Amino acid sequence: MEKTILVVFLGLCVSQLGGSVAQQWIPANATFYGGSDGSGAMGGSCGYGDLNKYNGAGYGTYTTALSATLYGDAKSCGACYAVACDSSKTGWCKPGASPVTVTATDFCPPNWSVPSDGGGWCNPPRQHFDMSQPAWEAIAVYQGGFVPVKYARAPCRRTGGIRFSISGNDYFELVLISNVAGSGAVSAAAVKGSNTDWMPMSRNWGSNWQSNAYLTGQSLSFQVQTDDGRSVTAYNVAPPNWQFGNMYESSVNFW
Ligand SMILES: *[C@@H]1O[C@H](CO)[C@@H](O)[C@H](O)[C@H]1NC(C)=O
Ligand SMILES: *[C@@H]1O[C@H](CO)[C@@H](O)[C@H](O)[C@H]1NC(C)=O
Repeated sequence: MEKTILVVFLGLCVSQLGGSVAQQWIPANATFYGGSDGSGAMGGSCGYGDLNKYNGAGYGTYTTALSATLYGDAKSCGACYAVACDSSKTGWCKPGASPVTVTATDFCPPNWSVPSDGGGWCNPPRQHFDMSQPAWEAIAVYQGGFVPVKYARAPCRRTGGIRFSISGNDYFELVLISNVAGSGAVSAAAVKGSNTDWMPMSRNWGSNWQSNAYLTGQSLSFQVQTDDGRSVTAYNVAPPNWQFGNMYESSVNFW
């Protein structure tokens, strides 16, 4: 008797937890690209480059390109999505597969020379994930090629701090911001040299943010805001003798 009550009580707790944690699933479709090892999905429009660099602690092989509707002019770069194959609409789902979590690293361009339901999968306003093949094969059967899915934003789990890779030249620093946990998608950034005030940066392309200040010879601090409104400050990430072409990893992230 008591056992039954306990079980019912626990059941209620679990279902309430499930209810508050579960986000709403949104319908979309998915295809895949980039080969079985994911190598062809490297170097996407977000600018992350080789996703396995820095000793394998990059975004790895579970990545996706997004149609314009989802990509939003690079606003979604770095965002994570839980994607589930919708077995109520296709027979090509991998039986019993859990949703896979992928990081947005690339843009799937429209192809207006084909109809949007006949190959123009990424044409607006379609919501489409062109996933790396390894991510795809976690939820769907290779031969399927195209499956209906449902998706929700998911928290990004990252090891280590936010990374700042600096390129450019004096008076033009291009800073690739990567390895962002939490929301994953950077919505604003600012930089401070040891001799300057905080200065907003602007998105140049993908996840590359620019500053036109002269920052050479100064230690650099960065503020990063993500699209859920949270922000963190990484003080003195780069030492005064920082160099163009180097990556500096902070000790902070959205944990
Ligand atoms: C998924 O693809 C099918 C077939 O082209 C289409 O009818 C449906 O509207 C698509 N779903 C979404 C959410 O774009
Ligand atoms: C658009 O689709 C057509 C037909 O599949 C293909 O030949 C062409 O290469 C595609 N264009 C681009 C830019 O992908």
